[in-house]
Amino acid sequence: MLAIGSDHAAASLRIAVKKYLDEKGIAYIDCGTDEAPSDYPVIAKKVCGEIAQGNADMGILLCGTGIGMCMTANKCKGIRAAVCSESYSARFTRLHNDANVLCMGARVVGEGLAAEILDAFLDTKFEGGRHQRRVDMMMELEK
Ligand code: RB5
Repeated sequence: MLAIGSDHAAASLRIAVKKYLDEKGIAYIDCGTDEAPSDYPVIAKKVCGEIAQGNADMGILLCGTGIGMCMTANKCKGIRAAVCSESYSARFTRLHNDANVLCMGARVVGEGLAAEILDAFLDTKFEGGRHQRRVDMMMELEK
């Protein structure tokens, strides 16, 4: 299960991503928002909350740049969020960082590229091994 959210700047990208997920048969919780204007930290907190509560395994956060969502998400416990504008980073943040939230900027990527990035993120598994030790070191900083 995924949780997805956007602010007003990425509302149309959120609609496009949801349509893409529907077509692929991937289930998601829509955390909004359809409000404009809106504050991205509110939505990031909702999506990360769904992950923390075990309702979702991963999250997708969209705003104008993806950066505000990413910064906020990374302050939430258990979250490893990455902002990606191409599929190489999306693939490697799964392989090496075990990222559990993908952030994208609606003013940076178009709908087609967003779908490609999303595919790379969702289709890639964490490699573990030496990367597990590094992720553990990263997560130690939360304590
Ligand atoms: C909203 O104008 C914009 O600041 C927001 O969507 C995001 O890009 C922040 O990081």
